[in-house]
Amino acid sequence: MVKTILDIKGLRKTYGIHEVLKGIDCSVQEGEVISIIGSSGSGKTTLLRCINMLEEFQSGTIRLDGEEIGYRVEGVTRRRKSEKEIARQRALTGMAFQQFNLFPHMSAAENIMLGLVKVKKMTKPEARAIAEKWLDRVGLAARMNHYPGQLSGGQQQRVAIARAIAMSPRLMLFDEVTSALDPELVGEVLQVIKRLAADGMTMLLVTHEMRFAYEVSSRVIFMNQGVICEEGDPKKMFVSPKTERLAEFLKTSSFN
Ligand SMILES: Nc1ncnc2c1ncn2[C@@H]1O[C@H](COP(=O)(O)OP(=O)(O)OP(=O)(O)O)[C@@H](O)[C@H]1O
Ligand SMILES: [Mg+2]
Repeated sequence: MVKTILDIKGLRKTYGIHEVLKGIDCSVQEGEVISIIGSSGSGKTTLLRCINMLEEFQSGTIRLDGEEIGYRVEGVTRRRKSEKEIARQRALTGMAFQQFNLFPHMSAAENIMLGLVKVKKMTKPEARAIAEKWLDRVGLAARMNHYPGQLSGGQQQRVAIARAIAMSPRLMLFDEVTSALDPELVGEVLQVIKRLAADGMTMLLVTHEMRFAYEVSSRVIFMNQGVICEEGDPKKMFVSPKTERLAEFLKTSSFN
């Protein structure tokens, strides 16, 4: 039976008077790999940040494994949950960004161990074993004790992804994780994501790599001006888009 991991209903988000998400409805089943595409400013990053409660939102609900994220409704009032509760919920998702945000004074293994020790309360040997397992999985077994400054951009991004995955999230969020990389380093990071997809990790990824979205995702969501404009099977969507907007977007993207 398919299990719904993420269920978003009527999500609206404004910055001042500017409505950036205008009623997003979307659900994600366990094991799905969903690529979010769309032009700059369409709200892709904001959507991921709402799921991870890095942004507040004004209305709608986000449920993760059935649990409402960020807010509780008491009668007619909607209150933000306590910071402790939000921190616990945030740990249900893992996030990797364009900028890797590794601690420069810690080795690759120590970067991964930090959350395991501080948040998951593991002992250092337990955390090290997990860090080593994941560094091995992302092809960095020989770089465990290297500092970020001694690693290439692609290697640093793989450490950042390993760090997020090591926390055993229910859902992984990726926001343009290859955009800051030199072209020759993009492939190694996409390969790691492909392997996680094959392992059954549930993932939502914002990407400009149309070929990757086409080949790897089970579903594609095309966002335009704060709404989901079109979604479906990439094999169908990219070949015969239903909306003029998507057709236009694909013309200007790297997919052709
Ligand atoms: N902190 C903020 N304050 C005000 N407006 C913001 C803020 N962050 C984003 N926005 C606006 O929200 C809209 C959506 O931005 P968002 O970053 O989600 O777009 P995006 O689809 O991720 O774009 P890109 O492809 O360039 O990363 C944009 O119009 C942006 O200017
Ligand atoms: Mg963005």
